[in-house]
Amino acid sequence: MLIGVPKEIKKNENRVALLPVGAATLIQSGHKVVVEANAGAGSSFSDEDYKKAGAEIANTPEEIFANADMIMKVKEPIDKEYQMIREGQIVFTYFHFAASKELTEAMMKSKCVGIAYETVQKADRSLPLLIPMSEVAGRMAPQEGAKYLEKVMGGRGILLGGVPGTGPAGVIVLGGGIVGTNAAKIAAGFGASVTIFDNNLYRLRYLDDVMPKNVTTMMSNEYYIRAALPKADLVIGAVLIPGAKAPHLITKDMLSIMKEGSVVVDVSVDQGGCIETCKPTTHANPTYVVDGVLHYCVANMPGAVPHTSTLALTNATLPYAVEIANKGYEAAIKTNNEIKLGLNVIDGKITYKGVSDAFGLPYHTVESVIK
Ligand SMILES: NC(=O)c1ccc[n+]([C@@H]2O[C@H](COP(=O)([O-])OP(=O)(O)OC[C@H]3O[C@@H](n4cnc5c(N)ncnc54)[C@H](O)[C@@H]3O)[C@@H](O)[C@H]2O)c1
Repeated sequence: MLIGVPKEIKKNENRVALLPVGAATLIQSGHKVVVEANAGAGSSFSDEDYKKAGAEIANTPEEIFANADMIMKVKEPIDKEYQMIREGQIVFTYFHFAASKELTEAMMKSKCVGIAYETVQKADRSLPLLIPMSEVAGRMAPQEGAKYLEKVMGGRGILLGGVPGTGPAGVIVLGGGIVGTNAAKIAAGFGASVTIFDNNLYRLRYLDDVMPKNVTTMMSNEYYIRAALPKADLVIGAVLIPGAKAPHLITKDMLSIMKEGSVVVDVSVDQGGCIETCKPTTHANPTYVVDGVLHYCVANMPGAVPHTSTLALTNATLPYAVEIANKGYEAAIKTNNEIKLGLNVIDGKITYKGVSDAFGLPYHTVESVIK
């Protein structure tokens, strides 16, 4: 199979869908890889690195889309790419179809085979191609929090770990899933006094077992959160109710019981945020202040660390890409339920219920389109 890797063209997207080592792996399996010139530059991988791995370099995206059997991308295709995607071409990337009718209709029109990273799902219902970005955002959250707690950045002027004789900063983590667990681990590593709130007692039991001594677990309810807020220097929002808007665990009136100059990092901003006063911001302008509390609500936090994010993402995507390339998409979908769940559009038909429901478009079972 010929696998094509175009350069990402969405604004501020510096990740790339395949590493040189990934190209080498696919080539070893008998495939050909073509990478657009400079596709890896934003993540610090040069064309020379890809050439050494055995890939060819193409100067334009047109060359890649015109010839590749499978396109590997990071972000959903945008307008300029719609026309280049061909009938029967596999496109393996993040699509987030439910967020855009235009994209859904464009991919239906192209009759491509759209396999979406975000809906590839394991038997335990975990989403293996979303987890790496949650890990990155979770580990970044205390790092950003620590930065904005500095006086010159607008914060209280407090060091997360403190020093002997001063006591550590207080960190609250709302939600103890992938983001929350990673955030708590890093904040604890800094030496902060960390409290994780979750409403799942089984999750709290697990966290209590694995977290270091400076992490406390608490059942999530308004009473306990209100009691903890006056002592917090940093609050990290990491709640998720799948398929729904995040619940507002901190309402606007609760900001008044927080310390002046404290910081909130709401990672769950992409689902509306679990802090009522949170609204999406960008890396160019990441923060704003409400009632004396500094808010950091960047919707694509992993974008700030594209090298790490690319490594984390491609570690997870490569085995699926190899399987699709080796078996062909039909056999890969028939034999691997995780890949089958990733199929969202094929031959102009929607095969993912959530997407058809989002736009009232007809739904087709995978079995009805791949016999
Ligand atoms: N901003 C970014 O760049 C970025 C990057 C990655 C992920 N995210 C977002 O971060 C959020 C968390 O993702 P995740 O992968 O950790 O999800 P997850 O499903 O692993 O964890 C969510 C946790 O929230 C808990 N929860 C649900 N309701 C709660 C409540 N009322 N109180 C306390 N806890 C509650 C759940 O029990 C679960 O443990 C998602 O919205 C995700 O999209 C954002």
